Amino acid sequence: MSSFDLYVAGGIAAATIGGLYCVKATRNNTPPWAKASIWRTINEFGNNPVKFLLEQRKERGDIFRVNLLIFSITFVIGAKWNRWLLRETNEEDASFYEAVRDWHHGLIDVAHNFPGWQERALKAMSAALNAPIRLEKMSKYFLDVAVPTYQSWEAETSIPLFDFGSELVLRAVLTTLLGPTFVHEHGEELVPIVKSFERDIGHPSPMFLPLWATGVGRRLLKTRKRWRELIEAEVVARLEDPARCKKAGDYLSYLLTLDDAERYMDCYGEHIITAVTASHANSDGTFAWTLLHLLRNADLLAEYENEIRSHPPLEGRYPIKSMPFSEACLRETGRLYTNLVLLRWVYRDMVAPGGIMIPKGWLAASPLVTHRDPEIYPRPEEWDPHRFLSDDSATSSSTSYASKFRNHEFVQFGYGRHACLGEKLTHCLLRETLWPTLIDNYRVEVVDGVVAGEGLSDVGVEATFSEGLGTTFGEREVWIKVTKRDVPLSEEATSSV
Ligand code: HEM
Repeated sequence: MSSFDLYVAGGIAAATIGGLYCVKATRNNTPPWAKASIWRTINEFGNNPVKFLLEQRKERGDIFRVNLLIFSITFVIGAKWNRWLLRETNEEDASFYEAVRDWHHGLIDVAHNFPGWQERALKAMSAALNAPIRLEKMSKYFLDVAVPTYQSWEAETSIPLFDFGSELVLRAVLTTLLGPTFVHEHGEELVPIVKSFERDIGHPSPMFLPLWATGVGRRLLKTRKRWRELIEAEVVARLEDPARCKKAGDYLSYLLTLDDAERYMDCYGEHIITAVTASHANSDGTFAWTLLHLLRNADLLAEYENEIRSHPPLEGRYPIKSMPFSEACLRETGRLYTNLVLLRWVYRDMVAPGGIMIPKGWLAASPLVTHRDPEIYPRPEEWDPHRFLSDDSATSSSTSYASKFRNHEFVQFGYGRHACLGEKLTHCLLRETLWPTLIDNYRVEVVDGVVAGEGLSDVGVEATFSEGLGTTFGEREVWIKVTKRDVPLSEEATSSV
């Protein structure tokens, strides 16, 4: 049985209840349902949700509900509604944490329910992942992962960009979260576990069957158990040596330097699972898509190479504050490939601006749909980093990134209370180390997997929503070849003198 069949089978069981619910909902000032039969909705939403939601927005306006048989989602689309949902609603009404908990099918309930843990974890992440001195250490970790990985890529005839890119990013973020020694010892075991966890968590079966009842569910339970074992053993060892934690640069060590660290013993394993997913799920696709777009467009690649030429690294780190083109590339990939939905759980019917009654249940903003609005982004389906370079971001021009961010038209890293805690870390990871280290030191070419005319801006492959959380992957693999340059780009000027 395919995922889709399972999904439908489970949905039929819930359809009667859903039907009753639909009748009740239309009596109030609730948003309209999408204008499509339920079968068309499931099929089209499943295949190309962005296209489906864009069409529904035209038909139904900025707020509508999508019935996916076993659950439904109320969508609020566009800048005004991004502001409302992400900045103005509160946890008690539209909960981010409950959405994350529910979406993990009970796997993170212990940490979720532990008194004081959410606040502690939020504060800890914010401090540990954003202080300049810590970012500097993490950047060094990234470099220590990237350099040998690129050497190993060079030894291969070709490598699969999405898969190996995802693994590289995963090893880098695991190192940041857990430290190099831990990843050295457990990386071989953890990488496949995380990959299968990310695939399984998005599978439909845990939505309507208990975890123990399916292979996917049992795998998820096994993964949680193993994570908890590994992390708890590590926590016990580190707590015996507090001086080591103080010196170390990784996130787990930081957590253990906080007061009363033993009290939260039951939370660390589950928390680390969510931290790994949060840090990996969007960075891996961003890594691969940006490279692929650059490799498929000689002019844009030349522009990126020139930026590297004129900004040599210092101890391996590139001075990204003065490298606007790479920043624009990161933004443009986020605009086109990242986050179909940002979900909230509405505990009881709530009133939105205009007296609209948002029903209890799932509520979502859609960055990807906002980002395809031609009134905000002319030529919306074109990957063009210049759109974020077209003027000085200090001005209030409506085309600048700063203005788009202020106006809630650009949602790559979210807004408000739950805005991304890893935005700076992502710039460190991708712009300061992974991309420039590769392009500076290696010639990279696409050798297989692309088809002329496919994908946005002829990138050669369509995005798929059936794999990858957060940021999409390519619907098939793309193969690249990397060859060491005789002289790195950033040393060309000095070597020719
Ligand atoms: C390209 C990379 C990334 C993108 C596009 C991204 C995007 C986002 C977005 C849109 C949100 C808001 C979710 C919502 O409002 O529903 C978010 C939240 C979050 N992100 Fe990221 N993220 C990225 C990388 C990272 C990294 C590297 C980390 C490191 C741990 C991280 C940690 C988090 C955390 C912890 C939250 C939840 C904050 C909370 O609990 O309130 N992210 N991210």
